[in-house]
Amino acid sequence: MKPRVVSGIRPTGKLHWGHYFGVMQNWVALQKDYDCFYFVADWHALTSEYANVGVIAPSAAEVLSDLFAAGLDPKGSTVFIQSHVMEHAELHLLLSMIAPLGWLERVPSYKDMQQQLVGKDLSTYGFLGYPLLQTADVILYNAAKVPVGEDQVAHLEFAREIVRRFHFIMKTEVFTEPLPLLTKTPKIPGLDGRKMSKSFGNAVYLADDEKTIREKMMQAVTDPARKFRTDPGHPEVCNIFAYHKLFTSKEKVLEIERDCRAAKIGCVDCKKLCIANAVEYWKPFQAERAKWVSKPAMVMELAEAGSKKAAAEAEKNMVKVRKAMGLDYGTD
Ligand code: TRP
Ligand code: SF4
Repeated sequence: MKPRVVSGIRPTGKLHWGHYFGVMQNWVALQKDYDCFYFVADWHALTSEYANVGVIAPSAAEVLSDLFAAGLDPKGSTVFIQSHVMEHAELHLLLSMIAPLGWLERVPSYKDMQQQLVGKDLSTYGFLGYPLLQTADVILYNAAKVPVGEDQVAHLEFAREIVRRFHFIMKTEVFTEPLPLLTKTPKIPGLDGRKMSKSFGNAVYLADDEKTIREKMMQAVTDPARKFRTDPGHPEVCNIFAYHKLFTSKEKVLEIERDCRAAKIGCVDCKKLCIANAVEYWKPFQAERAKWVSKPAMVMELAEAGSKKAAAEAEKNMVKVRKAMGLDYGTD
């Protein structure tokens, strides 16, 4: 039996290169060694998009197509939609009975996100409960590991504390304590050098066609200190160099690094090569993606089958939870 991983992604818009190299490739690779449960966290999306609910379903469909196109195997892995597995909501509710308010208020992302997302009122009950819903998501399936980014480590620490508290109060062991699975992923800068993000308007999307990729990459900033062709460049601060590392062969990357520092290559040529390589790199994914996007009904059917599989698995723990919490009426 392979150890289990569970992870979710919020459907709040289109996915971009940052998602692809930071999350999706990792999810795909983990399928070899783990029993994977991957889901579209649409209830989590609502914690910030409750006044913009129209984005949820289209984003979810797009995320699923992107995931399948990237290589998630709908047969081998359990790929599902959070809101189609009611057990997530039930467990979240039951855990809310024992979740101390102070613990929730102390989760760092709570205040951070409230400050970051200006223009969105996140002083809601739902948003405060975000880490608790995430806890339910993973412990429902006894996940051993949860592939997440650095920013989510505190959520898993919170989850482990909730598990211990549940076991202590209910005097019975039901759940596995989930650990984060941090994998080194390359940092993908946006076209302007800041972190790639929808909100910064500096992203290249998986849905972007060749022409758009070319246009966007043409505008990418390079080493800002390199004003003249004769100035030596600094690849470590150059976005185009960061993209070369994704799309260009190792040997060529080393050559570019040397030639850039020695002012033997100009940024225009360097960028042209990078664009050509990026365009080639994305072709197979784009072809695969087009197939999935053209079959939305099949994508939803697969997610439905996945949701049924997930619910059956979730139900095993819920039977124990209901019993542990005094809700066993001897009817099942
Ligand atoms: N909070 C995660 C994020 O923003 C998404 C998420 C929701 C998740 N539920 C999860 C991740 C469960 C891992 C496990 O990226
Ligand atoms: Fe960047 Fe290439 Fe210009 Fe060097 S030569 S600064 S790597 S674009």
